[in-house]
Amino acid sequence: MSTLFKRSHMCGQLNMSQEGKQVVLNGWVAKRRNLGGLIFVDLRDKTGIVQVTFDDTIPKEIFDMADSLRSEYVIGVKGIVRERSSKNPNLATGDIEVFAEDLVIYSQADTPPIYIKDDDNVDDNLRLKYRYLDLRKLKMQKNLTFRHKVTKIARDYFDSCGFTEVETPMLIKSTPEGARDYIVPSRVYPGSFYALPQSPQLFKQLLMVGGTDRYMQIVKCFRDEDLRADRQPEFTQIDLEMSFVDMDDVIEIQEGFLKKVFKELLDVEIETPLPRLTYDEAMERYGSDKPDTRFGFELKKLNDVVKDCGFKVFTDALASGGDVRGICINGGSEKFSRKDIDKLTEACRSYGAKGLVWLRVMGEGEYNSSVNKFFTNEELRNIADVFDAEAGDLILIVSDRPKVVFDTLGFLRRDIAGKMGLLDDKRYNLLWVVDFPLFEKDDESGELKAMHHPFTSPKLDQIELLDSCPEKVKANAYDIVLNGVELGGGSIRIHDRNLQAKMFEVLGLTKEECEEKFGFLIEAFKYGAPPHGGLAYGLDRLVMLLLGESSIREVIAFPKNQNAQCMVSEAPAPVDDVQLEELGIVTRKAQL
Ligand code: AMO
Repeated sequence: MSTLFKRSHMCGQLNMSQEGKQVVLNGWVAKRRNLGGLIFVDLRDKTGIVQVTFDDTIPKEIFDMADSLRSEYVIGVKGIVRERSSKNPNLATGDIEVFAEDLVIYSQADTPPIYIKDDDNVDDNLRLKYRYLDLRKLKMQKNLTFRHKVTKIARDYFDSCGFTEVETPMLIKSTPEGARDYIVPSRVYPGSFYALPQSPQLFKQLLMVGGTDRYMQIVKCFRDEDLRADRQPEFTQIDLEMSFVDMDDVIEIQEGFLKKVFKELLDVEIETPLPRLTYDEAMERYGSDKPDTRFGFELKKLNDVVKDCGFKVFTDALASGGDVRGICINGGSEKFSRKDIDKLTEACRSYGAKGLVWLRVMGEGEYNSSVNKFFTNEELRNIADVFDAEAGDLILIVSDRPKVVFDTLGFLRRDIAGKMGLLDDKRYNLLWVVDFPLFEKDDESGELKAMHHPFTSPKLDQIELLDSCPEKVKANAYDIVLNGVELGGGSIRIHDRNLQAKMFEVLGLTKEECEEKFGFLIEAFKYGAPPHGGLAYGLDRLVMLLLGESSIREVIAFPKNQNAQCMVSEAPAPVDDVQLEELGIVTRKAQL
């Protein structure tokens, strides 16, 4: 074991203010160049890179040791900071170098399987397998430090608002948040299982019954669902719950938090109160309950203008209760060729759309469209007028059942904005979406399910509709949206046990099922539950957006890959037969 050179500075901290001083640095060799009598070593730690220079005026054994250095060796260096003769403006420490006097090698290193370079374009699985090497990249260290700062601000802010951080259990009974559970077998009760929490929802409500008043937790959640750039099976929430509040109280506290995060970390001033859009308005205008409002291309309903046209696709859709809606891409006519539109049409199919109608405004009163033969010029003008379209604009129209129309146009407007370079990542359009429907219909089974979760309170003046027309009932639920991404969501909860029982009944749960699944919550409500409500942010998503990253994997130290595997530890993996036996579990071999 080599002796430790006690560090005096971090590499990235050095500048002309230490000129002439002796410093002691520890880190990894990023690069070594031998120019004969001179050896240059770029030394890296999490704060940055500094150049260390060895020349042949130092003892030979040190010079020879410096010559033996290879990439990723871990070393300690003592030396004097001096001004560089040729400065490097691309390096934060580029005005100086450290003139080495002594050197120690702590560890040698094999040639790493990935380059430790911020913009290296290496295969994702390889990056994740060697994540500990990937983490040496300055960008990754910067991201982790930034994430740490977000959680610190959250803890400090919510502490100053009277919140107490409380840990809730990880081995629990399943909590319904819409995804599949990860389950953990019990040894003591063979055949019984714990679930890992999809969120601390029920426990945070129990904390309110328990008088905690204001709870927060930075907490791991587990959901077995299909992965996307902003979804991981294991992710982190900043989870909050408050007693004796209404929606405005919750929103006000959250706006204070968001203001602080943006100011302290990005020096961006967020104007509060933030805009609020109702769910209905968000869908009508943007085709999405998480609208990106950094650009226009708002949806317009064309039902009235096309109801008497000779185009059967539209009139049939209307006759079967569907809609005809479109968006106008200002200046899009030249930018999108027939081939481009064919590609867009193909992409729309995954949202259920059977086709895409286009209409180009060629000049004043002059149109060209994919449905020319079904429309008079007058009818095309009427469509264009709905959008106040001008020469050079491109209108894209979808007709189908409302969900398909919204999903398709919602996708198109954002996809096209991306292609036109309109997604400015220095703009932060935060907004609340409020007044969500309490229920939605399951796409496959057609059954009603809670849109947020079954503990969300309906608007109190709509309780009567729960029996007659549950789909019309709006919830006291709210989402916080940033640039088209759902950052967080929450609601005012039901605290009345009879109303909670009614909610379960509408959801088609029998008394026995309720008792079995949520008996403990209903029982707790018997003993005095305060009115309460809360919210949870996806911490990974918040950090991703603040850093301008495009995937939450860039802000998680050890994320899962696209197939939910941990590439470092190679989980999931089979376990010993002995372990299985203890758990009373027999597995079937996967059928090949
Ligand atoms: P919800 O299910 O909306 O609400 O989740 C809250 C936020 O968590 C983030 N999120 C995810 N992030 C990464 N990967 C995932 N798989 C994932 N799933 C969700 C999102 C989302 O907005 N208990 C309620 C909150 C409440 O009502 O207080 C809940 O969990 O950013």
